[in-house]
Order: sequence, then structure tokens, then C-alpha cells
Amino acid sequence: MKKQKEIKKIPAIINCDPGIDDAIALIMAIKSDLIDVKLITTDLGNVSTEQAGQNTLNILELIGADDIPVACGEGKCLEIERPRVAVHGKTGLGSYVFPKNSRKLLKGDAVDIMYQTIMAEEEKTTLICLSPPTNIAKMLLKYPDAKDKIERLVFMVGSIEQLKRGALPYAEFNVAGDPEASKAILKSKVKLEIVPMEMGHTAYLDWQDVFKTKNMNFVGSVLENLYREYKDRHVKNGIATHDSCAIAYITNPEIFKVEPVKVDIRYYDKLGTGVFVMNFDKTPNALTCTEIDIKKFKKLYFKMLKKCK
Ligand code: BDR
Ligand code: CA
Repeated sequence: MKKQKEIKKIPAIINCDPGIDDAIALIMAIKSDLIDVKLITTDLGNVSTEQAGQNTLNILELIGADDIPVACGEGKCLEIERPRVAVHGKTGLGSYVFPKNSRKLLKGDAVDIMYQTIMAEEEKTTLICLSPPTNIAKMLLKYPDAKDKIERLVFMVGSIEQLKRGALPYAEFNVAGDPEASKAILKSKVKLEIVPMEMGHTAYLDWQDVFKTKNMNFVGSVLENLYREYKDRHVKNGIATHDSCAIAYITNPEIFKVEPVKVDIRYYDKLGTGVFVMNFDKTPNALTCTEIDIKKFKKLYFKMLKKCK
């Protein structure tokens, strides 16, 4: 019999705020043959950290991945609290009612647990951030020795769109939610790879994809139910896929065009709304995706769904 090639999985920690597109991303990461999700931490973003924690447990239960530990963050921005617009329904996962879940969140703060998980791992850990990065910034500030054990930070954040028109870019949610945390991350010099807003707006799911999702299996029918309340106003005829693009970038980098970029955080109004300013002509301090192959991304999405029940 032909011996199957052993695939080495990438040890990863996901910091997120489920969130409907976060839910797809979690499923995609867990169902992938390439990512070993060691820990999920929740941050202040689409909903409170506790609600995001409960939502994460519900998603894990839905796909039978109830052995992955989940820890909540403190729920306070690094320096200044920021207003947030809710676009994922009341609970963060539309109004779908998940069955009662007896699993508990880990005791203790996400920042300490993230650090312990990174240090306990023999290999370097890949951090994946799908929300404002408050927990990650706090961890890097509290435990600077963690940096040497971090392979890279793949961050769904920012926008490149409006730079071309000479104006400041759109205040994407994950940077605007805690710009000081993003600043601390840039300062830490951790290896940063950005998956900006344009990816999830380009590779959105149209209504035909949503229909196919619904009829695929039970998990698909739950996702379709969640999609009914996802209100990303940039996508008029379908569902934005932001956070799952970050997972696709890790598992299938060949479907993206990537360019070196110089990133700075700027504030553009009196409220201190933060944006990522990406400059392609200056000495780079990060990489950013600039294009995505829509067809191949959708293929990955349905491949992930096929692995569910
Ligand atoms: C980001 O904002 C959130 O609402 C989504 O979950 C995603 O992480 C996109 O701007
Ligand atoms: Ca998110």
C-alpha cells in the first residue's frame, strides 16, 4: 500500500471576536490539514469578550471540535475605549439559537494563557488575529520574551483602497477598534502579514453560494442562517468573507498576490479614529495581500464545508 505523506501542521493561536465571518474562519482553520489550533482567545470587537467566548464554544460544538481550549480577554482596550458598530446581529452570530452548551471557558486571562501556550510549544507559533488585537498587544507588552517564539502574525486588518486616491484609507473595524494595540504590535516588530478588507469584499459569497451552502449539510444550513444577519455594508449582494481569507492565506498562499509594504497607524478625526496607512514606496515593515483568486478561494470554502456534517 502507498504510504501517505505526513503533513506537518502549523501550531497556531487564533485571536477573534465571533462574529459571523470569524465563525467561518474558525471552521476553515480547524478543518484544514495544515493548521493545528492550540488555543482560541476572544477579544473585544463585534461583541463582548464573554459573548465571543460563548459563541466560539458553540461553533466548536457544532463541528465536534470541543477539545480546543478557549480563553476570554479582559475586554478593555489597551489605552482608550472605542465605539463599535454591531453588524453581526444581537449575539454576534445572528439570531440562531445554539443548543445548550455545558463546556466552560478556561479560567484566567487570555493574555497569560496565550503566553503560556506559546512558551509550552517546542516550535514557534503562528498568531492569527481576526479582531482588534488587544490581547496580542497586551501579551507582547507584558511578556516581551514571547516575540522570539512567534513565527508570524497573520492579521485581518486595514484597507488599501483609498490610498490610491490620495485620501486616508477606510477605518477598517479591527484597526479602529483599538488603534493603540495595532501601534504596539508594529512597535514590537513581530513579523506581520496583513490580509486587508479588500480580500473579503472581493471574494464574497454571492446568493448562489449561500444557497449551495444551505443545502450542503447541517453546518451549511446553520451558516446560511447566520448569514441572514451579517450586515457588512460594503457587500451589497452577498456575504463578506474577511476573516476566512486570513485562514486561506495561511493554508493556500498561492491564491493571493502579496507585496511588501510600510504600514503606519494614523488618526483622522477628533474622536481618534485609527487607520492603517499602507505605503508601497517606503522601506517595508510588513507584507500585505493585494489580490485574491476568487474562484480558488470559493473552492476552499466549499472544501471546508464538505468536511462538515
Ligand atoms: C472585520 O470586522 C469584523 O466585523 C469582521 O469580523 C472582521 O474581522 C472586517 O472589517
Ligand atoms: Ca472578526
